[in-house]
Amino acid sequence: MPLVHMKDMLEHARREGYAVGAFDVVGLEFLEAVMAGVEQAGAPVIISLAESHFEHYDFELLMAAVEAAAKRSPVPAAIHLDHGASLASAIRAINLGANGVMVDASNLPLDGNIERTRAIVDMAHGCDVPVEGELGYVAGVEGEDAEKHPGEVIYTSVEDASAYVAATGVDFLAVSIGTVHGRLRTKPRLDFDRLAAINEALGIPLVIHGGTGLADDQFRRLIANGVTKINYYTALADRAADAIREQAGADPGAGYTRLLSGTRAAIRDEVVRCCELWGSAGRAAALLDHCRPWTPVEHTILYNVEGLDENGVEAMMREGRAVLSGIPGVRRVFTGDAVTEDAPYRHCWLVQFASAAVIDSYREHPAHQRFANERFRPHAGDRVSIDFAERARDERCEDAPNEGGQSASGAAPG
Ligand code: 13P
Repeated sequence: MPLVHMKDMLEHARREGYAVGAFDVVGLEFLEAVMAGVEQAGAPVIISLAESHFEHYDFELLMAAVEAAAKRSPVPAAIHLDHGASLASAIRAINLGANGVMVDASNLPLDGNIERTRAIVDMAHGCDVPVEGELGYVAGVEGEDAEKHPGEVIYTSVEDASAYVAATGVDFLAVSIGTVHGRLRTKPRLDFDRLAAINEALGIPLVIHGGTGLADDQFRRLIANGVTKINYYTALADRAADAIREQAGADPGAGYTRLLSGTRAAIRDEVVRCCELWGSAGRAAALLDHCRPWTPVEHTILYNVEGLDENGVEAMMREGRAVLSGIPGVRRVFTGDAVTEDAPYRHCWLVQFASAAVIDSYREHPAHQRFANERFRPHAGDRVSIDFAERARDERCEDAPNEGGQSASGAAPG
């Protein structure tokens, strides 16, 4: 299994008083090293992909690897879009496999931030995906991640945070209390009183950006005041770069693979250190018992066509693939033809939904309604439609009754 609902994960962390590491990955070595670290530590993990890093990798390709790594891992994992700039980014991330998204509209005035965040929350909740908002601004000081966050720190105010959370419905809030993205020049002064007041007022999981460089005692106080997710990147990038420099010095003739040979261990060891410090080490098994598995639904339609020739069928399927795959929560649209002549149905749609919630939000989506009513149903009166929930692959649950099972939804085809 263990891809799990991120909201269950962070609520458990909040109840039990620890924080889950949200490690930004920027390539396959990073992903493998982060997974090696959390697996060694027995810790849950949030695998984070920051939109500001997309210039370094192909998001679609890396997401496929991230999902495979999360699914085969023995530790509970969630996949998060970090610093998503727009509604379109959030939809794309969910459709590629993210089950948590962050809205970064903290550069906008409060009203604009609320408006953009609200739109993303409405969409994401329709897919059962939780949303992290940010209020205040965590600027960058030095290092490659700092450059992505220009400007000055703006502290989160308790009053604005309460208004923002009430107006947007975000599930988690990233707060600005003195941390910065990137490297630190000096030990930052963190406003713990402000954090305590925000925690008291909101009662939802809080997030800290700019985890790099904070002292052990600062992490402990953050967690004691409601922080359950710590974003961490620059230190991992710096450990990896140190390992490359060391290798280059010791082995001047090294090629690509030899230069990178020490990076995985360097990142892994830093991840283990963080999990131990933040209290997430050793929590994997207990957390799994508290988290719903994140499982897809296969929306299946078998049908025969009337009143369309072969070209018409092809055009209808092509249009459906284009239109339906952009609907929030749609992971994949497969159109197919029966392999044998005697099959009772000649064609199919297999539309994979990110979660069971998408059955309803997809059915009601205007793009789906239009396509189904105008292009599909008039030609496909002879059809059967069933939604299949994936059986959780957690072997420990093998003997337990399957609550998800399969359900006939009667959802509109297409
Ligand atoms: P650092 O790079 O300072 O660890 O911050 C990472 C972060 O907050 C990503 O969102």
